[in-house]
Amino acid sequence: MNKFLYAFALLTIISLSSCERENKFETLQVSSPNDSNQITFQLTEDGQPSYTLKHNGKTVIDTSAMGFEFKDLNTLSKNFSIIDAKTGGLDETWAMPWGEQLEVRNQYNELIVYLEENTPEQRKLNIHFKVYDDGVGFRYEFPQQDNLDELLITDENTEFSLTGDHKTWWIPGDWDIYEHLYNETKFSEIDALSKANNEDLNASYIPENAVNTPVTMKTEDGLYLSFHEADLTDYAGMTLKIHPSENKMVSELVGSERLGGKAKIKLPFNTPWRTIQVADKAGDLIESKMILNLNDPNALGNVDYFTPMKYVGIWWEMHIGKSTWDMEGTQDMNTFTVGEKGSSQHGATTENAKKYIDFAAENGIQGLLVEGWNTGWDQWINTDDREGVFDFITPYPDYDFDEVMAYAKDKGVEVIMHHETSAAPLTYEKQMEAAYDFMKANDINSVKTGYVGEIIPKGEYHHGQWMVKHYQKVLNETAKKEIAVNAHEPIKATGKRRTYPNAIAREGLRGQEFNAWASDGGNPPAHLPTVAFTRMLSGPIDFTPGVFNIKFDDYKKGNRVNTTLAHQLGLYVVIYSPIQMACDLPEHYLVDGEVHPAFQFITDVGVDWQQSKVLDGEVGDYVVIARQERETDNWFIGGITDENARTFKINFDFLEENKTYKALIYKDGPDADWENNPQEYMIEEKEVTKNSTHTIQMAAGGGFAISLMDSE
Ligand code: NOJ
Ligand code: CA
Repeated sequence: MNKFLYAFALLTIISLSSCERENKFETLQVSSPNDSNQITFQLTEDGQPSYTLKHNGKTVIDTSAMGFEFKDLNTLSKNFSIIDAKTGGLDETWAMPWGEQLEVRNQYNELIVYLEENTPEQRKLNIHFKVYDDGVGFRYEFPQQDNLDELLITDENTEFSLTGDHKTWWIPGDWDIYEHLYNETKFSEIDALSKANNEDLNASYIPENAVNTPVTMKTEDGLYLSFHEADLTDYAGMTLKIHPSENKMVSELVGSERLGGKAKIKLPFNTPWRTIQVADKAGDLIESKMILNLNDPNALGNVDYFTPMKYVGIWWEMHIGKSTWDMEGTQDMNTFTVGEKGSSQHGATTENAKKYIDFAAENGIQGLLVEGWNTGWDQWINTDDREGVFDFITPYPDYDFDEVMAYAKDKGVEVIMHHETSAAPLTYEKQMEAAYDFMKANDINSVKTGYVGEIIPKGEYHHGQWMVKHYQKVLNETAKKEIAVNAHEPIKATGKRRTYPNAIAREGLRGQEFNAWASDGGNPPAHLPTVAFTRMLSGPIDFTPGVFNIKFDDYKKGNRVNTTLAHQLGLYVVIYSPIQMACDLPEHYLVDGEVHPAFQFITDVGVDWQQSKVLDGEVGDYVVIARQERETDNWFIGGITDENARTFKINFDFLEENKTYKALIYKDGPDADWENNPQEYMIEEKEVTKNSTHTIQMAAGGGFAISLMDSE
């Protein structure tokens, strides 16, 4: 591991000459290792901290002010003096226990500005900048100081002044859920409030014209920007309030009516990093590891209890209305009967679980998720009192837990636990120790959690400080028991998987499930080509790809998946997660009793990577990614396109020298398109080397997947 500390190398304090009529303020600058990004810190005339960001000499964030408001205390934003400043830097390489790549280089220059109010209160605040070649992060550090112990923050006002009316890919700043479709508009046309009252969301609260992060933009010059946060700990999630006429965003923290503010902090305290990724190519946003680098190193040590894997599950069948979560049969997604018996039967039965286990074992799939295995599902939704509904240890009588576990073990399949909390975190906190002990007693090493509905107690939101602490508590408690967590309805990822690598994946986006039942007809073909450059910048996604029966007309009519089958295959490489579901029903993966030929790709594709390369892409249009599997060194390539068909020429120059690979190319058939002919596909085999190229046609809403294995 290389560690260089550059002390004071880049600090320049320029005092503007006093003869200039302008005011005399101090300017501090720090540039990234290759000089492409430069931060300038300055106190404005009235002593307010501000920063600007330049990329290759051009301003990308114009003068942007910083400050805080508190309950019962004066605003902390003006009348500051710089009392000290320090610079430094780091160049280290660290290894990911599992991930998109094995080694990550963490190289930055930093500047810490020490500020003090020149008022009788003399409050102190430090601002810490880390400048990378792929962007910048900065955070506020409240040092320990006299007369300040606890602060109730009612507003953090960090500005981001844009230099134009950029094209923006955004979801509304919902305090409860990220499961909105992405919108592509000019910055000035962002209208988050129009996204309220979405009938497909169980909990949703959009109080301002604000967006959630990551939010990605493209400037007129073709530069890409993405705004997010890193290391969200003990604090409220940040939305960005839009000031359309000024091309400006200001941080707007998620609040809590119970708290009467946004976040309560105890000094000393460091806020999360506010991050701005800057990229000349769209794909560089995806390759950037800055968000992870801004988090602390692994605090858990070895997490070998978690194996990256593919899994099947008793899951899609409930979403399309073939079966129900509850044994009583009152959760029928097909007829939308709630509270009375519909036509469907309980999904999580012993027999059905065995059917999935057989399919997994025969097709090289390591894991099985079973939802609806535990009692309580007839009361979990649409009630105000959801405390105590689930206990996470009592199976339904038609699900013989021990028998399923023994059968899975015998077939070498690992069972994944499911804990739907129904957004009652206090019940979950009470039950978690027993629930985790029960898992470990049965050799279960990972859990999918869920938080559907409005948070109880009322006044709290999924993305507020109280829930941020709850999600962290889950990571801490599971880590103690050696359990990995895949959270649905989560707080957004902010790179904490570096510190807590038992945080393996999460939802936090409009997942595949919306295709099963959304009233707007599901996710459009452009959804995932947008997600790859927005939501995916924050971390692994449990999207649950792999629908082969695209229209599922035997079940929920009127809904369908709006992509081709080959696009579904491409997702296994494009969408990164160390766990990938093959979400369709086992019978949908069979053709005349034999496994569908294209399933071979799902069997073969890796889930843990040595390296990843974005071959090309454009936000919202298409993306092509190549990843090399750890251990085998095999490569896999995935490509997906929006509603437009396109031709893509693959250059295999990233392959190893002097090696011939057998390429299996899974692609759209000549007449395929997402709307009318989504399941037509072709499989082509050829040999390729580093010097090969191959031109591939993606249908409208289509895609492709390629496995490249050693041909010897
Ligand atoms: C919503 C989750 O996203 C989904 O995956 C799960 O099946 C249901 N909640 C039930 O827990
Ligand atoms: Ca969900």
